[in-house]
This record gives sequence, structure tokens and C-alpha cells, in this order.
Amino acid sequence: MHLHRYEKIWLMLGAGGLALFIVLLCVNAFAMGMAPPSNMEMIDPEKVTETPPFDKPGLKQVGDNEYDAYMTAFAFGFSPTKMEIPVGATVNFHVTSPDVIHGFQIPETNINFMVLPGHISSATHTFDKPGEYLILCNEYCGAGHQVMATTIIVK
Ligand code: CUA
Repeated sequence: MHLHRYEKIWLMLGAGGLALFIVLLCVNAFAMGMAPPSNMEMIDPEKVTETPPFDKPGLKQVGDNEYDAYMTAFAFGFSPTKMEIPVGATVNFHVTSPDVIHGFQIPETNINFMVLPGHISSATHTFDKPGEYLILCNEYCGAGHQVMATTIIVK
């Protein structure tokens, strides 16, 4: 008799725990749906080349020595092909892809991220040293992957 009641309590506790777990899962999923990562901006990947500002990739001065760089990474290259900035410039890169997943890496800087079709990936770097910086794709993206690179000139 005692054992029976004991088991019943445990069963109820177990069911209650499971219900609570499910509720928490739902709340969690709901909360995540309500607040997508703030750095995830999306555009239609099929219309990248028609969507401003990616229809005219390039540098836009936004401060004293600060620039927004709107770029596209595609099979197999980057647009614009060449950029020039003054020493000490801070550049906010905004990159998207019209086709497949690419990488965006500038060796000797902290810039290294993935570029997904239609997603706008962003990162900022201040170029304190003059030189020619390589921008390259570090995600395998097809036959032309090895030649997918461009440069940014700091002087
Ligand atoms: Cu693009 Cu590898």
C-alpha cells in the first residue's frame, strides 16, 4: 500500500517534470523566434545584384576616416575587385553572396567569416599599417575557389 502510493508520487513528479521540460522548450523556441540574432540581415539571394547597396558594391565614407565596404562574394571573385583606403581607416565590411557559401578572410587581421547566400555578414577592422591586404575565400566553393581573391590597398 505504501509502496504503491510512493510510486504514484514519483510517476506524477516524472510527468510534471516532462511537462515542464516541454513548456520550457516551447518558451525557448518562441523567445528565439522573437529575437533573431541582430547581426543577421537578409536579402533575396537571387536579387543580390539588383538590391542596393549591393547593386553597386564599393566604399562609402561614413566618418572622418571610416568607411562602409559593401561587397559581394561570388563564384569566383569579389566585387569590387580593388579598393583603396587611407592609413588608419576603419572599415565596416558588409558582404553577401548571390550563389553559394564563400569565406571572407583578410590574413593578419581579425577578419574571418562565412558568407551565406542572401545573408549580410558584417565585421569591422581598422587598418593601422600601410600595405596591400589580401582578401580571400577560405570556404571551398567550386572549381575556381583557389583563384577567388581580391586586394585592399592601405596607403
Ligand atoms: Cu568562394 Cu571559395
